[in-house]
Amino acid sequence: MTPGRSDEGPTWVRRGARYVAPLVVRQFPPEVPFGFVGRVVPTSAEVDLRVEAHRLPPGQALAIVHGARAVAEAELAAGHAGSATEELEIERGAAEELGRAVAHREQELWRVGVVFAATAPSRARAEAERERLAERLAVLGFRSRVPRFEAALAVGPVDDGRASPRPPGYWQTLPTDGLAALFPFVDETVLEPGGVLVGLSLANASPVFLDRWAHASHSWGLFGTTGSGKSFAAALTVLRSRWLRPELEVIVLDPLGEFGAFARALGGTVCRPAAGGDGRMNPLDPATAGGDRREKAGRVAAMLRALFPSLRDEEAAALDAAVSRLFAGPAAVPTFEDLAREVAQGPGSDGRLAGLLEVFRSGSLRATNGPTTFATDATVVDVDLAGIPDDQMPFHLAYVLDWAYGRLAARPGPKLIVLDEAHLLARHPATTEFLDRLVRHMRHFSAGLLLLTQNPDDFLARPSGRSLLRNLYATAFLRLPEVSAEVRAFFGLSTAEAEWLPKARLPREAGYAESLWRVGEGHLPLAIVASTPEYEFLTGALGRSADPPP
Ligand SMILES: Nc1ncnc2c1ncn2[C@@H]1O[C@H](COP(=O)(O)OP(=O)(O)OP(=O)(O)O)[C@@H](O)[C@H]1O
Ligand SMILES: [Mg+2]
Repeated sequence: MTPGRSDEGPTWVRRGARYVAPLVVRQFPPEVPFGFVGRVVPTSAEVDLRVEAHRLPPGQALAIVHGARAVAEAELAAGHAGSATEELEIERGAAEELGRAVAHREQELWRVGVVFAATAPSRARAEAERERLAERLAVLGFRSRVPRFEAALAVGPVDDGRASPRPPGYWQTLPTDGLAALFPFVDETVLEPGGVLVGLSLANASPVFLDRWAHASHSWGLFGTTGSGKSFAAALTVLRSRWLRPELEVIVLDPLGEFGAFARALGGTVCRPAAGGDGRMNPLDPATAGGDRREKAGRVAAMLRALFPSLRDEEAAALDAAVSRLFAGPAAVPTFEDLAREVAQGPGSDGRLAGLLEVFRSGSLRATNGPTTFATDATVVDVDLAGIPDDQMPFHLAYVLDWAYGRLAARPGPKLIVLDEAHLLARHPATTEFLDRLVRHMRHFSAGLLLLTQNPDDFLARPSGRSLLRNLYATAFLRLPEVSAEVRAFFGLSTAEAEWLPKARLPREAGYAESLWRVGEGHLPLAIVASTPEYEFLTGALGRSADPPP
């Protein structure tokens, strides 16, 4: 044979010095596994993939879907489906759903041909590679076929569209979602130069950068089960964001007390409301209400009424009056000591009120009695809420969140607020109010939120939570044990994506976190990978605080 000439065997084609062994996909699994190409074609294999897709006109698409439904219905009605009944029910349901989507133009139908071609310098090697490929496809539920005496047709040029003759079984019908799963490639619009590296594409390892500041909303959400790598990803994001913008201010609301060493390692500080010492935030500090003393007096009164629900009307009135006098008085920054004195000296004090306030002097809240001691000028502040008993959490959140909000509003420059384990805080009204205000005003103060929680359903249940989620520019899903229908619908996840998320690999299995990012309209499967220095820095700095507060 003359080199350079093409010729053909029963199952292969020769092109110059290379042998091409094609493999036709003749049946897709019911759901095309998301990003499957990356899994069947290792980068070491010399395999070409050709996807040929022709959009079907809507009328024809509807006719096909109705046909599929009618077939399932007829078989069900005939009643001899036996054990296949359940499958037929599913098929009928799927056809119905698809019919609606096609009618609403949310999905289209495509006539799709998929052919893999293994190439190698020898026939034997090309065919062996093809065999391995067929095995990997079979594991994922694809059926494939070696085109016998039709190899040239299978890899023939795509010139005149659907008129080109193809081997039998070559054409499949797929909805847009299924077709999209064949293209797990990065959408260039989310390669945002000037952004931070968020991960590497799971399909082709290309890096993906996002620039939160380039969008109307600067906020992102990270969702995933425990151990999926949320806190790590958040810290990594903070690290990379500060690297690009050293002036970025960060507040971490840290229910489990995991970010203390991290904040310090970035030159920041730790505020520990329950511990006192050098981490105190004085709940009576007018700074926590932007310096507005009247506003602060009102908020303190509300906070105390919530803390002491047993207050009788006259006691509540006496306490309110004492608080007003306190903030109208000379002490620039009052403490609970001052408040107790004001109450004792005031009219109508019967001793019970003074007794209640003892909790700040000698009781479980004594750590809050005194001036603010944490370094308020630090640009990174970790608010460590670990160790706060549940019944005192609303009290602490009331002033801490006021402080955080005031600080976001008052300070110039970009700010990021990290809310870890948000579900632990979201059940308190103070947090809900804080988040509502934040969502509405955040962008006016160049602030972004990084919301971390285990289950997005926690937020979907309430209108304010939904508005919060709607306001997130990017949402990353790490491993989720299950994806509810609400989550699927709200975030527009395909069935294949929803089925993939419970299988996303955990950092303790993979050494990185597998995730699905939803950025605008784009959906990207990404590996969240830290470089060695980042990994060492983060694993050294993250973790529950060694000395829990008393
Ligand atoms: N991208 C990653 N690369 C390497 N290791 C990671 C990565 N993400 C997380 N880890 C490691 O996996 C473990 C769990 O991660 P992390 O604490 O961030 O999970 P989480 O989702 O915040 O869990 P929880 O809900 O329990 O707080 C940690 O030991 C962390 O160091
Ligand atoms: Mg965590």
